[in-house]
This record gives sequence, C-alpha cells and structure tokens, in this order.
Amino acid sequence: MTFFINQTIAVLLIFIVASPSLVYSDQVQINLSNDISYDNISVSCKSNTGKDLGTKLLGPGTNFTWTGDINVPGENEIWLCALQCTPLKGYYGNFTLFISKRDNTRCGQRCLWSAREDGIYLYIPAHFTYEFQFKWE
Ligand SMILES: *[C@@H]1O[C@H](CO)[C@@H](O)[C@H](O)[C@H]1NC(C)=O
Ligand SMILES: *[C@@H]1O[C@H](CO)[C@@H](O)[C@H](O)[C@H]1NC(C)=O
Ligand SMILES: *[C@@H]1O[C@H](CO)[C@@H](O)[C@H](O)[C@H]1NC(C)=O
Ligand SMILES: *[C@@H]1O[C@H](CO)[C@@H](O)[C@H](O)[C@H]1NC(C)=O
Repeated sequence: MTFFINQTIAVLLIFIVASPSLVYSDQVQINLSNDISYDNISVSCKSNTGKDLGTKLLGPGTNFTWTGDINVPGENEIWLCALQCTPLKGYYGNFTLFISKRDNTRCGQRCLWSAREDGIYLYIPAHFTYEFQFKWE
C-alpha cells in the first residue's frame, strides 16, 4: 500500500516538475528584437546581480536572447539595458527590460521586447499583442 502511495506521489511530482504551466521556472528568457528597419541598435545589458552581457550590435530585424532569474528568494533581479541606434544615433535610452517582481507573471516564460521607431514594446501574452512600454529619451 505504501509503495503505491509513494509511486502516486512520485508520478504527481514528475507531472508538476515537467509542466511549465503549473510552476514558475527559475529562469525566464528575455528577448529583444530590433524592429527598426534602417538602423542597427547597440545594446549593453547589465543586471543588479553582477551579470554583464557586454555590447551587442543588433542589425535590423534581428534579435537576441538572454536569461533572467525569477522567483529566487531574497533576490529581485533587474536588467538595465542601454540602447543606442547606430550609426544614425536617432534613438537611445536606458530601459529596465526585466524586473523579476514586475515580470514574473506578465511575460509568461519569455519576455519578448520589440524596439520600434516610436519606442519599446513588450509582448503581453494575456492580450495576445505587443504593448507600448517606454519612449526613447
Ligand atoms: C525572439 O523573438 C523573435 C521575434 O519575435 C523570434 O523570432 C525569436 O524566435 C525569439 N527567440 C527566442 C529564442 O525565443
Ligand atoms: C550595422 O553595422 C554594421 C557593422 O558595423 C554595418 O556594416 C552596417 O552597415 C550597419 N547597418 C546599418 C543599417 O547601418
Ligand atoms: C531571432 O534570432 C534567432 C537566433 O539568432 C534567429 O534564428 C531568428 O530567425 C531570429 N528571428 C527574427 C525574427 O529575426
Ligand atoms: C545610460 O547608461 C549608460 C551606461 O550605463 C550611461 O553611460 C549613460 O549615461 C546612460 N544614459 C542615459 C540617458 O541615462
């Protein structure tokens, strides 16, 4: 009898661990796309937990992805990214593209950001659409 109960619990545990909709994972993908058709964007992202992605050059229509920690006890990871269009330098700004406490539910498993001419948009899965978040400075 105990064996069967243990087995049932084991199966339940595997189900919970394997099912992304039932538990928040400890990491979320953060994805930034350059949706400005005529210029590169130079992107430098740093976290308050000491991570530094260096500087990336995003060509028109390209994207890059990194991971943010979520639901880590005692830690509210924040990613600040400096964006600068180049070579035209038309748009720039520093934006918090991830705050664990802000984004642990609104992005789902992936925070999809889109840099556009009129500002920075985030995909909101609950609304099935990208929504405006930040103006360029
Ligand atoms: C990042 O977002 C872009 C644009 O929505 C998508 O094409 C790409 O597959 C995403 N990359 C990842 C790793 O999710
Ligand atoms: C983007 O940067 C690359 C490398 O510096 C350069 O060759 C290219 O011309 C730039 N693209 C645009 C649209 O300015
Ligand atoms: C996003 O980047 C990935 C990996 O670099 C690439 O395979 C994919 O096609 C890109 N998506 C878009 C919309 O550029
Ligand atoms: C954005 O951040 C960069 C690097 O941290 C800094 O040098 C720059 O002054 C900031 N720009 C603005 C407009 O706050």
